[in-house]
Amino acid sequence: MAAFRAPAAPMSRQILVTSALPYANGSIHLGHLVEYIQTDIWVRFQKMRGHDCRYMCADDTHGTAIMLRAEKEGITPETLIGRVWDEHTRDFAGFHIGFDHYYSTHSDENRALASKIYLSLKDAGLIDVKTIAQLYDPVKNLFLPDRFIKGECPKCGALDQYGDNCEVCGATYSPTELKNPVSAVSGATPVHKDSEHYFFKLGACEAFLREWTTSGALQAEASNKMQEWFASGLNNWDISRDAPYFGFEIPGAPGKYFYVWLDAPVGYMASFAKYAADNGLDFDAWWGADSKTELVHFIGKDILYFHALFWPAMLKNAGYRLPTAVYAHGFLTVNGQKMSKSRGTFITAESYLAQKLNPEWLRYYYAAKLNGSMEDIDLNLDDFIARVNSDLVGKFINIASRTAGFIHKNFDGKLADGVANLELIGAFQAAASDIAAHYEARDYGRALREIMALADRANQYVADEKPWELAKKPEAVYRLHEVCTVALNCFRLLTLYLKPVLPKLAEQVEAFLNIAPLAWEDSQSLFIRHRINEYSHLMTRIDPKAIEAMVDANKQNLEPAPAPAPVRHAEAQAHAAQPAAASAPVAETISIDDFAKIDLRIARIANAEHVEGADKLLRLTLDLGDLGTRQVFAGIKSAYAPETLVGRYTVMVANLAPRKMKFGMSEGMVLAASGDAPGLFILSPDSGAQAGMKVK
Ligand code: 2FM
Ligand code: ZN
Repeated sequence: MAAFRAPAAPMSRQILVTSALPYANGSIHLGHLVEYIQTDIWVRFQKMRGHDCRYMCADDTHGTAIMLRAEKEGITPETLIGRVWDEHTRDFAGFHIGFDHYYSTHSDENRALASKIYLSLKDAGLIDVKTIAQLYDPVKNLFLPDRFIKGECPKCGALDQYGDNCEVCGATYSPTELKNPVSAVSGATPVHKDSEHYFFKLGACEAFLREWTTSGALQAEASNKMQEWFASGLNNWDISRDAPYFGFEIPGAPGKYFYVWLDAPVGYMASFAKYAADNGLDFDAWWGADSKTELVHFIGKDILYFHALFWPAMLKNAGYRLPTAVYAHGFLTVNGQKMSKSRGTFITAESYLAQKLNPEWLRYYYAAKLNGSMEDIDLNLDDFIARVNSDLVGKFINIASRTAGFIHKNFDGKLADGVANLELIGAFQAAASDIAAHYEARDYGRALREIMALADRANQYVADEKPWELAKKPEAVYRLHEVCTVALNCFRLLTLYLKPVLPKLAEQVEAFLNIAPLAWEDSQSLFIRHRINEYSHLMTRIDPKAIEAMVDANKQNLEPAPAPAPVRHAEAQAHAAQPAAASAPVAETISIDDFAKIDLRIARIANAEHVEGADKLLRLTLDLGDLGTRQVFAGIKSAYAPETLVGRYTVMVANLAPRKMKFGMSEGMVLAASGDAPGLFILSPDSGAQAGMKVK
């Protein structure tokens, strides 16, 4: 290969990169993968640039949810987290997420570091002990985390709401404010019980946090969000939980455990500590207060509060270095909607791979959508198929598949000794620094747009030069050699630029081109006088049937959730766009537009009578005020004598298409409740509701 060597590589950086630690009680799904793919691309890019970049992660293993899940399965939490670790690492490997170390928060290193940090905070006078009342399950003998309590919203009265926020009116509150609370673990009515809790005095760190959150470590939109949080006041943070709890006992506080969110981010350090010990690195050089290295956290926007407030405050006051950057991304929607188990769009990593779908298709699609902001990204399955097939197969692979064969057939596998016209290759080389800047800024969408624009130019070149026609003319043999050499130079450079996104495909191309692993500086060298291997097919198109099969495989009949979502901070829950992997929603959600389609009205039962020949039905005449009257046949005979209904108010669906029944037309439906227990109960509005009023 000829050497137009690159200018001196930029000074090498040392960068420790993390992705958020996934909970050890659920499967990795396509929502999770946005973050791991985003981080992995950035890490691979930094490594290609020649930087010393280490990617750390771990399973987040502690908390009540994991303890109860293990109990339900009849296994120990240790067995559960061991099994989930195996599943997570298998799935991540399947998507080519190249962690340098994947650990567990349930480790000796994490226990030691979390304890050390806590004791430093205590020494600094930043730990407060206070007695607080919390809801307690008297059957399970367990303090109930917010997500394990359900009841009526104290603000709007909506039923079946979690203990921290109302999904109907959006109110956030404390679980003790919930009306008619019920333990989601045992079904018992919780009681108030006092207990001593340990608090980290976040309020005392406000001056430091105000400065740090505007120091450039956060995206502008995240920094603005912080200012809102400062304005509403920083609350001290409850970092203890009472036994029984799966976690680390707090030193000097028997029966008290670190709240899972205290030791979770310490898991970043612990993962590195183990890795450093195994690889002869100096832990303090990376984590000490004077560290010259960079520390970069990739997270979802729902856990900003932890990473932009608690975490830097902990590090600062325990004498460690601070994060260089916290990069938050948005949530994933599928086909424009929240991932849904009933629609089959709550897609697990495992089920994607089981359909033999290529993980690099998803990596490419996500990369094309990511721009370094906190905006949500949408996986539109039709667009996914179209874009991958068009860009990767139609544009990129096409360049090699249309030219490599001639090099073998006509030139014994050897590229030309030189090319007369360097214009096209020069343009490809010149793009290296712009593309690098986009990767660095996590604007992968922009990087890929530039790369695909180059691919278009290369394809145009091949189309104009028509090597298949040159091959038919003996006098054009030199031209043919040059054209194919130029095209394969372009192909090599496109591979290099795509390598952070498509590492396996790049490996296959490197084998085909018979070259060493591509590094960024190779973008400036020319690819001539070199023998390549025979071309064999590099990537297939996406078969829409495989996508359909994957969606079908993920479709679930929803049953009521056995256990609530893992515990998160109320702020995080209120902003979470999708449930955590382990939690099945109680029912499929519908959009507000779907709900608006149902015309619910208050109806006065003007008349009710038996229906000759019908065992279950009553004929109701419903008065809808200005909307007139309706005849409805309702299956409520077993529960109501007709005369007891006359004059009552109820709720009906007024825009249900009329149905012809054996006994006449039924023009709507009355709402009634029933369950496993005997009984049927028609709904009634509070007094004062008028016939015909819209229910919303
Ligand atoms: O939100 C979550 O899924 C947490 N398990 C993330 C933890 S990130 C870090 F702090 F450990
Ligand atoms: Zn409410």
